[in-house]
Amino acid sequence: MRQPLIVANWKMNMDNVTGFELMDDMLDQLDTMEEVAVAICPPFPLLESFAELFDGTNLYLGAQNMYWEDKGAYTGEVSGPMLKALGCDFVILGHSERRQYFGDTDETVRRKIEAALRNDLKPILCVGESFSENQDGQTLDVISRQVSIAFAGLDEIHAAEMVVAYEPIWAIGTGLAASGEGANDVIGAIRALIGDMHGHEVAQQVRILYGGSVNPDNIAQFIGQGEIDGALVGGASLDPEGFVRIVAVTHEAKTRAAR
Ligand code: PGA
Repeated sequence: MRQPLIVANWKMNMDNVTGFELMDDMLDQLDTMEEVAVAICPPFPLLESFAELFDGTNLYLGAQNMYWEDKGAYTGEVSGPMLKALGCDFVILGHSERRQYFGDTDETVRRKIEAALRNDLKPILCVGESFSENQDGQTLDVISRQVSIAFAGLDEIHAAEMVVAYEPIWAIGTGLAASGEGANDVIGAIRALIGDMHGHEVAQQVRILYGGSVNPDNIAQFIGQGEIDGALVGGASLDPEGFVRIVAVTHEAKTRAAR
């Protein structure tokens, strides 16, 4: 069975004072819920001290982006080996905000995925359709393009290490989450596509999350679906009580399912 995964995407929020206050308010509680993997993705400047803070806990550390070269004259960029050396386990790649504001494309995301995997970082590949693509019935076309470019040519071991987050762009930060069934259908289609490309066994190992306005009140409707392995949480991950509740609901649902 795939271990559920809840990822906190802090985006460009929290500094070296407020970030610690936020972690202080939730670390102990998060650490007790062992059935759920929890990954915190703070801004780059917090990674090193969070790696120390998480030492000896069940929490995982993730970055929100990286460059595809390992080193060199690329002013302002951060590489895979740097993230690995700090103790990162995961890296979010291809978030729609990166695609929208910073020029990430399916091709550059693909290069970043290769760089992450060769540096022993697990990519959290974000995919999702815009509102107009959704209205035009193009959701599955868009998702298929994004997923197939990202997964093409990966060997089975690397493909199985991937995490995918289905994040409809219209649901991000809007309060308008997808329905549990709707998200489950798209995520099922993503898993089927990965199965076509890399075989059933690999597809069964890949964790696929839902993201977009997840909160403590709607998490149950996603986590209760067969294909959804967890959530990528933005805004609600900045509220310690709410985020602990999201993880607790997931923990409860998955331990119940396992009984
Ligand atoms: P949201 O963001 O939870 O605030 O909608 C999710 C994300 O962008 O990853």
